[in-house]
Order: sequence, then C-alpha cells, then structure tokens
Amino acid sequence: MEKILLPTQNIRELQADASGGDVVITVTVGATVPTGFEHTAAEEIEEKIGVEAKISKDRGRIYFPITSDKLFQVHHLKSVDNLFVVVEEYDHYQFKESKEESLVDLQQLASKLPWTDALEVWKLNRALKKKKGHRKGGSGGKAKPSSEVSDATAADTEQQELPQAEVSAAEGQTKTEGSTDAEAYTQDSEEAAPGAKVTKFRVTCNRAGDKHSFSSNEAARDFGGAVQEFFQWKADMTKFDVEVLLNIHNTEVVIGIALTEESLHRRNISHFGPTTLRSTLCYGMLRLCKPQASDVILDPMCGTGAIPLEGAIEFNSSFYIAGDNNDMAVNRTVNNVCHIQRRRGDKGSVSGLPIDTVQWDLCNLPIRTSSVDIIITDMPFGKRMGSRKKNWDLYPSCLREMARVCRPGSGKAVLLTQDKKCFSKAVSRMGGLWKKLHTVWVNVGGLHAGVYLLKRTGAVFGQTPEDIYEPRGAVNSQADEKDDKELS
Ligand SMILES: C[S@@+](CC[C@H](N)C(=O)[O-])C[C@H]1O[C@@H](n2cnc3c(N)ncnc32)[C@H](O)[C@@H]1O
Repeated sequence: MEKILLPTQNIRELQADASGGDVVITVTVGATVPTGFEHTAAEEIEEKIGVEAKISKDRGRIYFPITSDKLFQVHHLKSVDNLFVVVEEYDHYQFKESKEESLVDLQQLASKLPWTDALEVWKLNRALKKKKGHRKGGSGGKAKPSSEVSDATAADTEQQELPQAEVSAAEGQTKTEGSTDAEAYTQDSEEAAPGAKVTKFRVTCNRAGDKHSFSSNEAARDFGGAVQEFFQWKADMTKFDVEVLLNIHNTEVVIGIALTEESLHRRNISHFGPTTLRSTLCYGMLRLCKPQASDVILDPMCGTGAIPLEGAIEFNSSFYIAGDNNDMAVNRTVNNVCHIQRRRGDKGSVSGLPIDTVQWDLCNLPIRTSSVDIIITDMPFGKRMGSRKKNWDLYPSCLREMARVCRPGSGKAVLLTQDKKCFSKAVSRMGGLWKKLHTVWVNVGGLHAGVYLLKRTGAVFGQTPEDIYEPRGAVNSQADEKDDKELS
C-alpha cells in the first residue's frame, strides 16, 4: 500500500475539494450520541442526510454511509456528539488468548487497513474546518479523546452528577479505558523529507468488555507504534493532526479517524450551571415530543435554559417559556439567550428567539389552566441538585401543577429524572391526569436516568381527590427514608 504523508496538499486544492470538487467518495461515518437516543439520531440522519443509520450494539454509537460532498451537512446534525470516519470495522474480531499474540495482531493490522478513503475525508474535513475558521482542540493543546463524551463512563463536567470512576462502579458498567498511556510511545519518528511537515498523530483506544487479555493503553501503544512506523508520522498526545480511534467493544472492533476535536453538543451554552444538560440530549428530548407550529412549550425548571434554548433554535415555530425558582439559574438563562441573540445579530440575523424567561415557583405557576401544549424539563435528581427527601414533596406538586396548566387530551410532558422510584409513585398518584407513553433510558453523566414521555389525559383538573395536596407523611415509608440515608 502507498504510504501517505499528510498534510502534503496545497490548501487551495483542499478547499476546492471541500466546496464540492471532483472526486466524491463514499465512506462510513461513525457518531457518538447520547446513550438511549440512538434511534432519535438515526431518525434525524435519515431526515437530513437521507441515509439509513446502523445502531451499534455498543450503546451510544451509530454508523451511516455518506458521500464526501455531504460532510458539511453531517457537522450540522443536532443529535450527534462526536464524529469519525471509519477506516475498517470488524463485527467479530478474533482476539488471541495471550496478550502478546493479541498485541502482535493489532500491530500487524495497522499496515493492512484500507486507510486511503478515510484519510481523504479527514483532509476534506480539515479543509472545511479551516474554511469555517475553526481552530479548536486537536492542534491546540488540552484535547480530549473525541469519543470521550459519549462513553458510558465519561461524565461531562457540566452535567449531572458523579465522578466518573464511582459512577461506572456503581452502575456496573464495563469500564471504558482512556488512552492516556498511549503517551508511552511519544518518541520522535524519523524525519521526513526536508521541508515536508511531518503529520502528528495519536491513537485513542476505547475498550469495553472483560474478555480481553490486554488493556486499552497496551492496545493504543502497540497499534500506535505500528501506525507510526507505517506512515512515518510523529506521535504527539496533545498537538496532533490526526486522531486515530481504536474502538473495541467485546469482539466488535472499529478503527476510525476523528472528524471532531470537540463534541458538537457544545453549541449554545456560555453560562454553565451545576447540572447543565448537553444540547444533544436536549435535542433528543425535544424530538420526542414533536413540537408543532405555535405550540406553547414550558420548561418550568430550566436551570441554564439548555432545553428551551435548543428548542427556540431548532424548533423555532413554537414559543418557549423558561422558568426557575433560583435567581442564579434565571440569570444564567437570560445570559445564555442574550449570548445567542448577539451571535445571531453579529451574523446579520434580525429575528429574535421565540423564548421568554421568568422566575417562578413551579408549584404555583402564573399561567392559565389548560394553556400549555408541551412541558419539557429536567427535574432535580436529588443528588447534586435538591435532595431525594425533598423530591417526595416536589415531584407530586410538580406533576399536579403541570397537569393543571397542560392542555387536557392533547398536552404532553417529557420529563428527565434519575429518581425513578419517586417519579413513578408520583405519576401513579395523579388520579389519571397523566399517562406514561414511553420511557427512554439514558446515561446522564454516568447516571442511569429515564426520559418519560407522558400524555395529559382528558381528565379535568381539580375534580379528583388526587388533585388535592397530599402531605409527604402519607406517601413516605421507612424504605424511602432508608433510600435517602443510603444516598447521603
Ligand atoms: C436539574 S436542574 C435543571 C438543569 C437544566 N436542564 C440545565 O440544563 O441547566 C433542576 C432545576 O430545577 C430548579 N427547581 C427546583 N425546584 C424548583 C421549583 N419549585 N420551582 C422552579 N424551579 C425549581 C432548580 O433551581 C434547578 O435549576
């Protein structure tokens, strides 16, 4: 196979390619998505790119074919976190039993892989980013592995809730190891021809499964060494041009090249709070409730406003009301909205976002009965935000007030919580005002949470005994108290 020294091409040539030049190649793109929302992402891809996506058994990943002229559109998908182009995939890779043999196999694999098309798409992608003026991550310094954010154990710092390692242990998830040990082989490679810029690279290995005789660091190190030798690239863990991904999930092996240096969920929020949701997850929740033109959509516990802001941008024929009882949260939402408005103004857009922000107590909303079409919110889990104990009062009060303002018969609610027991009990005590339609199980910062799609039934509010406030003592049990203690 021909060895490729990158980047060698003249930038003007690359830009010509990026703007729809001559050669169109077909490749498979992989995307990490919020776990649980793989089908939503597949739906978006079908709608916007017109191709069918394959959902990997490795939760939180999907794959779809594109022609290289669609690369630009792929970067505009709203449900994907990180993107990579697939070099090769093996559904049933036969790992040897001994560590040494397995690692030798991985080393030998490097020179046998069909790199050419994937590297062409990488070049095209780089040219597209240069055109857009992006200079983030990769060559800039403290880059994260691009697949990191959607891995089961990778808690985003601005998200709900626990440190990564604790979460994976608590949840019994397979530990996905990072690639930091791959630094072990950061010696300089031989110099290329004088004047030619040597391509810098790193290998990131994400491994899940307990039947491997090697660690992810060992795989990254040995595979990386072979990649270095094959291409004569230079290993550099921080200032790299190419990030090669080695994803191993039991016997599924996917080798790819990263197309994003930073997750695409970082798009709307400039003023973060303690539990800011990723915009990609917000988008998935919004799609679940299918906003229609002129719908009034409420996020009564908006925090930084991540959900209504994503809605106001992506489903902008509805009107959003964002509220919170915490003045800091309300300020953050206002700042986030203003920031986006300014950014749009700078780009010449004159239309404002269809969103208003209010400070309120959700249990006593200043809103007319039956006037809201959709309620979409991320409730306090009772860990970083609020407490499990308080949820026993908060959740029934919330659901009751939401049922009052939501339109009977057609209204919907999409509610995210990790306090599943408390939530389910509260719903069951709503006297039939809400009906559970569907639950999407998601991973929020390493916590197993539910996104519940509820339908507001036709029952008239205020006519059942359950609409009357029920003090906590009546629903609490010793078991609940035990739960609270265990969590504290
Ligand atoms: C999990 S956070 C929401 C985070 C938000 N989705 C974001 O991306 O930033 C829950 C929010 O509920 C708010 N909250 C708790 N009790 C409330 C109440 N009674 N009325 C209104 N907001 C409340 C908290 O102040 C907090 O901002």
